[in-house]
Amino acid sequence: MTPDEIIRTFLDHYRRLDHRDAPESSLIPPPGDPVLFTTSGMHPLTPYLLGRPHPGGRRLVNVQRCLRTTDLDEVGDRTHLTVFDMLGSWSLGDYDIATSLRWGHQLLTEGFGIDPGRLHATVFGGDEQLGPDETAWRTWTALGVPVEANDAENWWSNGPTGPCGPDSEIFVWTGDGPPAGTPGTDGRWMEVWNHVQLRHHRHADGRLTPLPLCSIDTGMGLERLELVLTGGRDVYQGERLRPWVAAVRDRWSLGEPELRVVADHLRSAVVVLADGVRPGNTGRGYVLRRLLRRALTTLWRDDPSRSLAELPDDPFRDTGRWFRQQPDVGRLRAVVADEERRFRGLLERGRPLVDRVRARGPLTERDYHWLHDTHGLPRDLVDGLLSVAVIEP
Ligand code: ALA
Repeated sequence: MTPDEIIRTFLDHYRRLDHRDAPESSLIPPPGDPVLFTTSGMHPLTPYLLGRPHPGGRRLVNVQRCLRTTDLDEVGDRTHLTVFDMLGSWSLGDYDIATSLRWGHQLLTEGFGIDPGRLHATVFGGDEQLGPDETAWRTWTALGVPVEANDAENWWSNGPTGPCGPDSEIFVWTGDGPPAGTPGTDGRWMEVWNHVQLRHHRHADGRLTPLPLCSIDTGMGLERLELVLTGGRDVYQGERLRPWVAAVRDRWSLGEPELRVVADHLRSAVVVLADGVRPGNTGRGYVLRRLLRRALTTLWRDDPSRSLAELPDDPFRDTGRWFRQQPDVGRLRAVVADEERRFRGLLERGRPLVDRVRARGPLTERDYHWLHDTHGLPRDLVDGLLSVAVIEP
């Protein structure tokens, strides 16, 4: 199945079950929102999860582009991406978790044709405040899906405050042989879908109070599901990552994890740019700057003459289409080129300083402070300089 077919199958399943389409939001939450980026399909629905009636009713479905900086250090492995598409479904105080899990199981096995023997679930096993999720446990057992209970790992929240609750995660076996172990003991179980019961509201002082509605919030990563359905090895073999991997690999020789990091960061940066963010030193602009500079640092480590200007237009243009954006590719590339120029200039100015400090031995905290406070060189950049080949003594 292609990503387009996966999206259509997902939306059709829930539309048949009387879910209405919820509009997709941009990656940038509205003014006043404490979160930098839309990290999950539920985020734009927060007011409705807190009790406001939604114009689309109590059953919703959509696909939402998301960005997670929490996963940045894991990017480069088989399954983590900075920007990805989330397939989401919601019950705003309508049906319960048992229904959500049954419909989810039906879609995975009948709609997507996944062998039920390759599924494993996890559920919330309780903690000092709340009891175990017996309903989810019983539902999985009745469906014949093996299940494992955890505590904190099966509690979902979108941040330190707001709607939260116990969740049940669905894993698919991605190993070569028959399934082995559990998600907790074998990394070849890959999480694809999370069904959360948003029943609690976490307040700034840490208190939990019940929400007016018991809602269900589900989210499934499109790129991971594609991996399962195509039998791929990692998400970078997917239709919407492959062109980035190919464009980078055709031009520059990098090791596998570096290639993935560059492909992920460039694709993610393009989506962030297309939603109107510009590189800067704070907030969203800084996240974008870090993505571009981490990609450049990786490229320049072996060969500082490389430039993103060598990349073709196609992955830039196609990424906009895939994420339902309409970027002006020429303008977007001009911003990337400008950021590359600035970064190169900073590296050139910083290089002699860092070399001088490093000649005295490994950098200390004081050195980092001096480089930052006196010369405006942030730690990321200093670390970048330390790893770029031309400054090797
Ligand atoms: N909001 C839940 C998640 O992102 C579904 O995992």
